[in-house]
Amino acid sequence: MQERLKELQTEALERVNTADDLKELNEIRVSYLGKKGPITEVLKGMGKLSAEERPKMGALANEVRDAIAAAIESKQKNLEEAAVAAKLAAEMIDVTLPGRPVKSGNHHPLTRVVEEIEDLFIGMGYTVAEGPEVEKDYYNFEALNLPKDHPARDMQDSFYITEDILLRTQTSPVQARTMEKHQGKGPVKIICPGKVFRRDHDDATHSHQFMQIEGLVVDENIRMSDLKGTLEVFAKAMFGSDREIRLRPSFFPFTEPSVEVDVSCFKCGGKGCNICKKTGWIEILGAGMVHPNVLEMSGFDSKKYSGFAFGMGVERIAMLKYGIDDIRHFYTNDVRFLKQFSIHE
Ligand code: DAH
Repeated sequence: MQERLKELQTEALERVNTADDLKELNEIRVSYLGKKGPITEVLKGMGKLSAEERPKMGALANEVRDAIAAAIESKQKNLEEAAVAAKLAAEMIDVTLPGRPVKSGNHHPLTRVVEEIEDLFIGMGYTVAEGPEVEKDYYNFEALNLPKDHPARDMQDSFYITEDILLRTQTSPVQARTMEKHQGKGPVKIICPGKVFRRDHDDATHSHQFMQIEGLVVDENIRMSDLKGTLEVFAKAMFGSDREIRLRPSFFPFTEPSVEVDVSCFKCGGKGCNICKKTGWIEILGAGMVHPNVLEMSGFDSKKYSGFAFGMGVERIAMLKYGIDDIRHFYTNDVRFLKQFSIHE
């Protein structure tokens, strides 16, 4: 019996020694130390022993059991440590490797121009107004002194949805909507950026959808000189502090008098070049003093109040500012184009 126990110990220790994973080790534990294991089996024969030998054999059996248990425990510790080490090795991070660059988007050039212009006017006390892109004929035309069948409606070929509803052809309807909201009480001081739509054939300088920024100031004693001073500040901020502006007489149904505004050429400084078509001046927007009919139709007393308004094409401003030669670049979203306006180089 003693020998059999010693044999079992040697055999078990041998197997523990060669076990190479925790699962195998557990199987060894169950088979040698379990209730149905060989040691228990050997001890069943204890009844045949003398009363003297029995405690010795019991002690030996415990020794063998302890030795096997200790070997298993130490092997388990080794295997667990090895497993952790292997996992760490597999998951090792080389902190000296260069990081992957984080790609970030940036603002669209039109958004940049709109935000720059908004900032400038907000700094002069204006608020930013908005209006619907699907607009009533009334606000887009009639309230702007363009009754039905007025010939000047032909200046802007329109997308009609019904007889009375269309895609707005200009941001000017926001003038009428804003004045209505003010219920005849000044001051009104807004700019309004937004999309507009016209039935145009798309080419390098025309698009059936584009953006405008509208400006409107209504108060007592607003004069043409206020308009001129404001636009001069705008032109210098957008195109450089050396710029000058020039007003030429023009016609818009909603302003009287109406002007077309030119800025002195920022490339040649006025000498004449390809950008200004040898004239030294570049047209940037339309403007004028708000027509008394427009004030009255939106609830303002034209004897007490006067105002000025202006409207510009955002694409045109962006094309001039950044030297872009085709309006379609703004809408095709070619990343090679858009990347050039990234603020993160
Ligand atoms: N709405 C005009 C257009 O689309 C631009 C314009 C001209 C707006 C004169 C104005 C203005 O507010 O006073 O061509």
